[in-house]
Amino acid sequence: MIVDPAMPVADIATRHPLATRVFSRHGLDFCCGGHEPLAETCVEKDLDLDQLMAELEAELGASEDSERRWDQASTPELIAHIISFYHEPLREELPRLELMAKKVQRVHGDKDPAMFDGMLATFLAIQADISQHLDVEEQTLFPAFLAGSNGGETMQSIEAEHVELGVLLRDLRTLTKDYVVPEEACNTWRGQWFGLEELEGAMHRHIHLENHVLHPRMLKA
Ligand SMILES: [Fe+2]
Ligand SMILES: [Fe+2]
Repeated sequence: MIVDPAMPVADIATRHPLATRVFSRHGLDFCCGGHEPLAETCVEKDLDLDQLMAELEAELGASEDSERRWDQASTPELIAHIISFYHEPLREELPRLELMAKKVQRVHGDKDPAMFDGMLATFLAIQADISQHLDVEEQTLFPAFLAGSNGGETMQSIEAEHVELGVLLRDLRTLTKDYVVPEEACNTWRGQWFGLEELEGAMHRHIHLENHVLHPRMLKA
């Protein structure tokens, strides 16, 4: 057995990065929460543990070695990875998603005004929060880490922002009914729902690395 169901969900995500695909699929929180054992979480969420274990085995079995264990990388390497793999793509992706969100709301808004207006407003709030969050990490928190400090209150406020971003992403998922595209949806609408769901998955993995790999290490240092 690759995964021990008695391990907390967040620890499984650290040890087996690809497990996050299965957790995202079933709405299991591994980035801000995830401190309970997997087996208990399944009972709480009314999920079939055997089924989940089978999905984890399938996801991890073939590719266990291909995914890097970031908890074993050096701090400068981990920070460089977070910036190049998560921060820089966000700076490109968010403006693209903003254009699509505005277009979808303009063209389809009258079909369900509350949903489309809510979607656009929530997306714009996420975009604004992320943009200044990345700047604080890159200009204040990461340099402090690289200088050997734990960042003090900045780390706490950054973690509070992770929780807020998680709430906004969940709101977006609720508003869009789990990103299920109706049959009549045009390609822009489909592309935008797909892009928002990808954004959610990448933000969960990104926040997980910061909350559960990078920050704990700086608190111990
Ligand atoms: Fe970040
Ligand atoms: Fe962050």
